[in-house]
Parts: sequence; structure tokens; C-alpha cells
Amino acid sequence: MKKIGIVGATGYTGVELLRFLVNHPDIEISLITSRANAGSRVDAMFPNLRGYLDLEFVSPDIESLCECDLVFFATPNGIAMKYTEALLNAGTKVIDLAADFRIKDVNIWQKWYGMTHSCPELLADAVYGLPEINREKIKSANLIANPGCYPTAVTLGLLPLLKAGCIELDDIIADTKSGVSGAGRKANVGTLFSEVSGSFKAYAVSGHRHQPEIIQTLSLFSGESVDLTFVPHLLPMIRGIQATLYAKKSHIHCNLTELYRNYYKNEPFVDVLDEGTAPETRSVRSSNMCQISANQPSTSQRIIVLSVIDNLVKGAAGQAIQNMNLMLGLKETTALRQAALLP
Ligand SMILES: NC(=O)c1ccc[n+]([C@@H]2O[C@H](COP(=O)([O-])OP(=O)(O)OC[C@H]3O[C@@H](n4cnc5c(N)ncnc54)[C@H](OP(=O)(O)O)[C@@H]3O)[C@@H](O)[C@H]2O)c1
Repeated sequence: MKKIGIVGATGYTGVELLRFLVNHPDIEISLITSRANAGSRVDAMFPNLRGYLDLEFVSPDIESLCECDLVFFATPNGIAMKYTEALLNAGTKVIDLAADFRIKDVNIWQKWYGMTHSCPELLADAVYGLPEINREKIKSANLIANPGCYPTAVTLGLLPLLKAGCIELDDIIADTKSGVSGAGRKANVGTLFSEVSGSFKAYAVSGHRHQPEIIQTLSLFSGESVDLTFVPHLLPMIRGIQATLYAKKSHIHCNLTELYRNYYKNEPFVDVLDEGTAPETRSVRSSNMCQISANQPSTSQRIIVLSVIDNLVKGAAGQAIQNMNLMLGLKETTALRQAALLP
């Protein structure tokens, strides 16, 4: 049994890690941290876990964390980087659900995240944890930068088009929408029920941190620089991301559904729908699936791709567990094969 620690388990991605990991046959959850709730039972805060877990929250402490085989950081940006070097030196693998290790250029990271990186020397070795691109590297990685939620939906939606060369790279538009849990569990006026319910708005139009992350991944993947307009929106619902992607056709023609089906035929967590079908966020709610349809309207020179995920699962905790399975030599899908919650 591999010993697993979770730092920041009182947040939404932390409790989502727990919801999947309590049913994982090959690991033991040995340590769950919260600074604010140390000493109280985990299932007192999260009654959905009653009967599955017999642990109390403890304060994050580097010596105890170093006894784990692998530690997840489900913490705000800038926390994992303070612990990672000591953990790696102790032989403990690290998966950061925040952005500390996602961007390779430390200057770009510092500009977007507004802080000084405490271990830029680790950035080169960190593997971007999108299995659909980096599966083999993830298997031998000790440090995983788990992708952001929007970047997961957008990147998976675009990979087949980039690979086939059938879109122009200098004019891609990602129009994205997220449920409110994307902002985490901390108190925040902007995510109160009475502020969000019955309304809909864009945010961070002048620039969002996920844009450089997406551009980095798409540019590395295609070997050319990619230009992307990225506009996120806040939806009055709890979970789910919808990315509507617009890309101009190049001179290379492709049969879209066939292209996507071939590209993702061996991927356990990407489901390609027929052209003309609109995937719904509720069809992936609470599951690790990404559902995609690629469309070519007869009235447009643009290809339109629709991509949906659950931000807390394929966009965070589920993808992190997929990475953990790969890193620990376990079956990639263990504990992650469950149908979405519907209605
Ligand atoms: N929500 C999403 O859909 C989503 C998707 C992808 C990625 N992410 C990323 O995943 C990370 C966690 O997101 P979340 O939504 O779960 O956040 P959250 O609900 O705000 O939870 C944050 C957790 O971190 C802990 N924490 C805060 N400061 C800490 C510190 N200095 N040291 C140790 N623990 C600390 C908190 O517990 P205590 O204060 O009790 O210690 C809490 O459990 C974020 O970086 C976020 O950007 C989130």
C-alpha cells in the first residue's frame, strides 16, 4: 500500500481527492492537513465521507509529509513550492494541483502570479500532468504540475486539430465558462449564491493566468507559437466547464469526427461525440471524463469545438489521481471509472 498525504484537504479539490481515494484499493490515505481544523475529524467537516475514513486533520508538517510515498497539494498558489524540495529529497513524489510548477519560464510565472518563485531550479524537471500528452513522462516523474481546469478543457479540445495541422495557429479563440466551485471554498463575495445565481458574466477579460499556461502547452505540442484569445465566464452553477473553441481552417482538410475519434481512441477519459452533438456539463458531472464534439458549420470558415469537463475532477482531483496512478505504476483508471451524476 502506498502512503498518500493531502495538504489542503478542507478545500473543494481536497475533498474531491478524498471522495475518489477512499475507494482506491492500492493506496492508504495516511495524512490529511488543515491548519484551521487540525484536531477535528475529517468526516465531521465532510459527512459524505462518514464510514469511509477514520482520520483527523493535522497541521502540515514537513517531517510527517516526508513519510508519505506521494503528497498532493490542493492548496493556493505559492504553497507547494515551499515544501517540494524537501519532499523530493526524502524520496516523496509530489503532485501540485496549484500552478507553482506549470509554467516553465519563471519570469512569466512571476509576472502572472505576482510572487517570487522559491525553487525555479525545479521547474525544468516538473512534468505537466496532462496524460493525453505526457503519459510516458508522467510515469517516471517525481514532480507533477497538475494542469488548470480551463487549460485541460481547452487543450484536449484542440490537440487533434493541432496534430493534423488543419487550423491556423495565429487566431484561436477559447470562450470558456465555469461553475462557481472553480473559485474554491474560501469566503468571497463574488461567489455568494445571491451574487451568482440568476446571472452570468465574463471576468478577467484583460488577461487570465490560464492563458499563458494554455499557450505554453499548445506551442510546445505544435512546435510553433500559438496565439489564443481566452475569455472566461462565471456560470450560476456549482460544477462544470464548457469550452467553446473557434479556430480558422487551414488549407488541410479533415473529417473532424474521424480525426478526433482516431486521435483519442485509446484514451480512457476522452469521449468524442458525433459532429452536431452539443456535450453538456451535466453529462460529466462528478466524473473524470472530457466530452468533445468538433463541428464545421456550413456557414463559417471556422471549426467549432465544444469541450466539457467537471472542473473538480478532470479539471483537478480526478486528473491528479490519474497522474498518481501513472507515477506509482498502478492501472491508470483505478478508482476513476464511475459514471457521471445525472440529473
Ligand atoms: N476549484 C477548482 O475547480 C480547481 C481546479 C483546478 C485547480 N485548482 C487549484 O487547486 C488548488 C486548490 O483549489 P481549491 O478550489 O480546492 O481551494 P480552496 O477550496 O480554497 O482550498 C484551499 C486549501 O488549502 C489550504 N491552505 C490554504 N493556505 C495554506 C497554507 N499556507 N498551507 C497549507 N494549506 C493551506 C486550506 O486549508 P487550511 O486553511 O485549513 O489549511 C484549504 O484546505 C488551487 O491552487 C486552485 O487554483 C482548483
